[in-house]
Formats: sequence, C-alpha cells, structure tokens
Amino acid sequence: MPVMLKAAVELLNPQPGAVIVDGTVGLAGHSLAIVERLGNTGRLIAIDQDAAALKIAAERLTAFAERCLFAQGNFSRLKELLAGLCIASVDGILLDIGVSSLQLDDYARGFNVRQEGPLEMRMDPSQGQTASDLVNRLSEREIEQIIREYGEERHSRRIARAIVQQRERQPIITTRELSLLILRCVGPRGRQDRIHPATRTFQALRIAVNRELEVLTEGLAQGYAVLRPQGRFVVIGFHSLEDRIVKNTFRAWGDNGMARALTKKPLRPSPEEIENNHRSRSARLRAVERI
Ligand SMILES: C[S@@+](CC[C@H](N)C(=O)[O-])C[C@H]1O[C@@H](n2cnc3c(N)ncnc32)[C@H](O)[C@@H]1O
Repeated sequence: MPVMLKAAVELLNPQPGAVIVDGTVGLAGHSLAIVERLGNTGRLIAIDQDAAALKIAAERLTAFAERCLFAQGNFSRLKELLAGLCIASVDGILLDIGVSSLQLDDYARGFNVRQEGPLEMRMDPSQGQTASDLVNRLSEREIEQIIREYGEERHSRRIARAIVQQRERQPIITTRELSLLILRCVGPRGRQDRIHPATRTFQALRIAVNRELEVLTEGLAQGYAVLRPQGRFVVIGFHSLEDRIVKNTFRAWGDNGMARALTKKPLRPSPEEIENNHRSRSARLRAVERI
C-alpha cells in the first residue's frame, strides 16, 4: 500500500510528456499512479537498489513498459544512473525512503525484529557489510554510538556491552539472537513498551548498514543538480533523523533562492490512512519546486 499516495502525486504534479524519477520504486505503488499521467511521450525512471524489488516493479509496470526505464542502484548515484540511460535532466523526483513490505516481510532479509532470520539488513545484498558484520566487528563504543544516535535508544550502553560479551562466546548471526539479548537488557519495564524493545536497535543497525543518512544527503544534492527549473522534489521519510536532513536541505535551498517550499510543514498521513496501513504511521512528506 503506497504511503501518502494522493499527496505525493499531487505535489509531484506529473504532466504528459514529463520525465519523472522514482528513486525508490519498491513495489511500484507510487510509480503506477505517476506513469498513468505521463502520456505516451513521458518517461518514468524507476530506480531501486534492491534487484528483487526492481524485478517486481517491472512486472507491475508491464502495461506501461514503453514509458519506463529501469536502473538498479543507489539514488545517491543518481547522476550516473541517469547518464547510463542518456538522461541529463528531469521534471520531478520522488523518494519514498525506507524498507518496503517485501523486504520487511521476508525473514531472509533480516529486517524484521519478530522473525527468525540471518542478521542481514542490506537493501542491496551485493554491497557493503551486513548487520551481523557490524555487531561482530565494531568496537563496543562504535556499536553504542550507532544504537544511541540512529536508534535514539536509552539503553544503548547496556545493549552494546551485552553484544560484546555475547560475541566473545560466539558470533551473533541471527535476528533472534540479537532480539533475545536486547529483551534481557531492557528488563521487565522495557518489555511493557508498545513496540518491541529491539525495534530501535534494529532501526539503528539498518541505518548504519545501508548508510541511510549519508546516501540521503548525497541523493538530495544529486537530485537537485538534475532537476529542471520548476521541477519538483518530493520526499517521504519515516524517522526523525531522515526528516531533519530533508528539512534542513530544503530550507537551505529556500534561503539561497534555489527552490520554493511546497509544504510549509511536513505533511502527515491521515488517521484513516494510519488505521488502514499501520506502516504509514511515522511518515512525513516534504516537497519543493526548483527555481
Ligand atoms: C518504502 S519502499 C518504496 C515503496 C514504493 N514507493 C511503493 O509504492 O511500492 C522503499 C524502497 O526504496 C529502496 N531504497 C531505499 N533506499 C534506497 C537508496 N538509497 N537507493 C535506491 N533505493 C533505495 C528500498 O530498496 C525499497 O525497495
């Protein structure tokens, strides 16, 4: 279920003949609504770093295959990905960041705190280090810092310590090993939380594994560089660290006369949408138009 679909498409405002990038095509929910509006001369550039997602997106977009171009890769390399398709500039960019339900529900990807699986968490399984690599190789201090900064977890020290003690006995390689360890760290009060006590640590590791904040910063800069005047940039983020980067970048563009804000405050999903799609609950949408 695409998050904040109506607002995202309205703000992106795709016109017949336009070239629009969906930098996080996922299961093509937003892309389907966008491509419909592009007419036969418009083009949708569908990008995802996850080859499995891109394959499903291509199947879902079959009816519009002639309007679509696909590229597997990180949106932080947007210019290069577009150059590979012989495209230099575009009319709109959508980023709907985070994990897709395909990734979250597949135990083998290791994103889900409630499912037993390998401690993986790479959105592009061909690149970088897994979450297991990080918890077994980084120093206690580095692990603590990741859990505190990216997870905003108040038990970060205790959890980092427990990880290091456990890995001295044997490496931590499954989601279950990590989530049980965290359950032991937070004690009975922590276990009464509405969310699973390991959720914040899992989020932190996912951000570190996929270098989510760095690639977002780079993706915004590269996106701006390829956006035509009056082109629109719409970003949906799911946690405050991400949203802070989008807010500050868009504000700086506004202050420097580079872009005009289309959302004064971040838009949030309606209570109805949250009711129907629990995963939308933390979404924040911001949009600008290039000057
Ligand atoms: C929340 S889902 C997108 C869902 C999609 N909008 C839909 O309606 O089906 C996020 C997708 O973005 C991809 N992704 C996240 N960060 C990325 C990045 N830096 N570069 C490319 N793809 C990324 C993930 O692999 C995932 O498939």
